Amino acid sequence: MKKLNIAVVGAGIYGKNHLDAFSTNPNVNLVAVCDLNKEITDRVSKEYGVKGYNDTEEMLLNEDIDAVVVATPDPYHKDPVMTAIKFKKDVLVEKPLATTSEDAYEIIEAAEKAGVRVMVDYHKRWDPASIAVKNKLASPETGKPVRGYMKMDNIYDVALNWLKWSGKSSPVHFVGTHCYDLIRWYMGCEVTQVYAVGHKGILQSKGVDTYDSITAILEFENGCTWTVENAWIIPNGFAKADDGRTEILCENEMIRVDSQKRGVEFFNDNKLSTPNICFIQRYEGRVLGFGIDPMNDFVDCILNYKPFMANLKDGLEAELIAEAVHKSADTHQVVKIERR
Ligand SMILES: NC(=O)c1ccc[n+]([C@@H]2O[C@H](COP(=O)([O-])OP(=O)(O)OC[C@H]3O[C@@H](n4cnc5c(N)ncnc54)[C@H](O)[C@@H]3O)[C@@H](O)[C@H]2O)c1
Repeated sequence: MKKLNIAVVGAGIYGKNHLDAFSTNPNVNLVAVCDLNKEITDRVSKEYGVKGYNDTEEMLLNEDIDAVVVATPDPYHKDPVMTAIKFKKDVLVEKPLATTSEDAYEIIEAAEKAGVRVMVDYHKRWDPASIAVKNKLASPETGKPVRGYMKMDNIYDVALNWLKWSGKSSPVHFVGTHCYDLIRWYMGCEVTQVYAVGHKGILQSKGVDTYDSITAILEFENGCTWTVENAWIIPNGFAKADDGRTEILCENEMIRVDSQKRGVEFFNDNKLSTPNICFIQRYEGRVLGFGIDPMNDFVDCILNYKPFMANLKDGLEAELIAEAVHKSADTHQVVKIERR
């Protein structure tokens, strides 16, 4: 079978997961890595034994590449994605597709014109808990979904230390879009309007100009209403870097997911840790879990002409909701989702 020649653009925290996935996938030749940061490029290209570049266009001019993975910071996905599309390469882009709907529409238009396929890495769809919920909601005995609640938060460290670019993103773009994507997938229909309120000042006082927390109410076409909460200010002493809960009240059943408690607990003298054992695990050269599954799925979908589980429309819709949530929190008005 033909192997897929892949290059990874952006070799930071999450780009490394892509590099691990593709360097161990038997159907992939990992060809090159590209990062604006020369030191990162040199270190990572050596580590994976691949060519290193600091410019996506130069890489695509010089290497035989079938597909490009973009794992640059949230607000900087568009340029490398558009470059890959210009060279007619299929793309796997990290979530969110973009941080403005303008960028998302531009990417969609260019991809359609060039005839390339773009998948968005909304990896929560591959979480076995999410798949169980999706299937439960599809069963006729469950009845209509009436009300939903989802929260996904991060510890302070994510905004203050992990992401150098957090002031150019927000808890809504970074984790909220995961929620919006998952809820749309569960509901099988679109959001009509949103109302949101937010809190600012704590992260600003520490030099990061973004929301501390935003609560959004989303109204769906099927009549179900969801409350979604996203914050970047849970204490660093929390047992995990993120916390997540879901509760869905349906006509005949109630569904609950606690993504913080995956059943494994580690104790020492100072702290309890509750790792998300389903997300990414490394063992003897293998890398496994629902954080990695979408990367391998991308390869399978390209090589075998299968539809993506999260495509450009999904990327756009999550961004339209994120933009409306920000607008509502800024103006204290209900915001209708407008589509072109
Ligand atoms: N950190 C996480 O836990 C996590 C989880 C899931 C998804 N993501 C997503 O992955 C993406 C990357 O996040 P991260 O945490 O790895 O950020 P990061 O800052 O650790 O890494 C981003 C890398 O991209 C490089 N870069 C920036 N612009 C570039 C360009 N034009 N060309 C080439 N390289 C460029 C930077 O030098 C940096 O090394 C984000 O969209 C984020 O939302 C992150």
